[in-house]
Amino acid sequence: VAYFVVVFAVLLALLCVAAALLLLSYLRVEVFDSAWFKASIGIAAVALIADIAVTGQWKPRRAAGGALRISAIAHATWWELRYETPAGSFATANEMHVPPDQTIDVLVVADHPHLLLAPGSPLSGRFLRIRARGDTAAFDVAWRRVLRLQIIADGRFDQWLRDQARPAPAPLNDLEIDGRAVFATARCTFCHTVRGVAEAETPLAPDLTHLGSRRTLAAGLLPNRPGQLAGWVVNAEALKPGCGMPMNAMKPERLRALLAYLGRLR
Ligand code: HEC
Repeated sequence: VAYFVVVFAVLLALLCVAAALLLLSYLRVEVFDSAWFKASIGIAAVALIADIAVTGQWKPRRAAGGALRISAIAHATWWELRYETPAGSFATANEMHVPPDQTIDVLVVADHPHLLLAPGSPLSGRFLRIRARGDTAAFDVAWRRVLRLQIIADGRFDQWLRDQARPAPAPLNDLEIDGRAVFATARCTFCHTVRGVAEAETPLAPDLTHLGSRRTLAAGLLPNRPGQLAGWVVNAEALKPGCGMPMNAMKPERLRALLAYLGRLR
């Protein structure tokens, strides 16, 4: 904005000079030959060159962080978070990492027509301006229940971005290899993506590529620990009615392998 004000002021000044010259020529005063006229032209040219040398360009500089784009998509019971960065694009869920003390515009979208954004919060389809300090802040939307988006001011944000943009880590032992096979055959991939392993057929559930890097499960409902994860995988509906994840009855050894593999996804 400041740039356009300056450009406008310069144009206005030029207009005034032109008007003054017209007036002077009307009064038959010879200005073009006068020494002060030549000198002022010289000064103006030097000032212009100096300005370009200092700012480096004609156009205004792009705002810092302009290369990072975050969208928050509110599903009925959880948040999908999409990041577009120079390091690559990826999706994560529920916990929005942002660089500390930087202003970030996040596009907020609701996937459900009846999702009401809480009083005082911006409307769907708008940019939400976030400046995270300290540890966490939260942003709520309401549809039957309140849906809370955790905002994490991450001191190691660039490292986090690079880690998240990578595909899923490979299994390290036989149990984890078996677990990956269970994941691929137990219909998990109908809803969930693990990048580098399987794309969800209907991507209506959190991306699990780096599940282990999240503090909580199911939009802040449970701490992300092995016991809670086991309970969730077996019967999510009992822990969070209406969450849309089916029960998974499976033999204990298959479940053990699946949990070992999910634990590898950091
Ligand atoms: C019909 C779709 C569907 C299938 C099939 C499904 N899930 Fe889910 N899953 C969901 C949904 C929806 C959520 C998000 C629920 C919420 O948080 O409210 C979820 C959440 C999760 C989460 C928590 C993710 C997070 O970051 O909070 C894990 C872990 C998970 N599912 C694992 C599995 C595994 C393992 C399987 C296969 C055995 C599976 N799911 C099968 C729909 C599905």
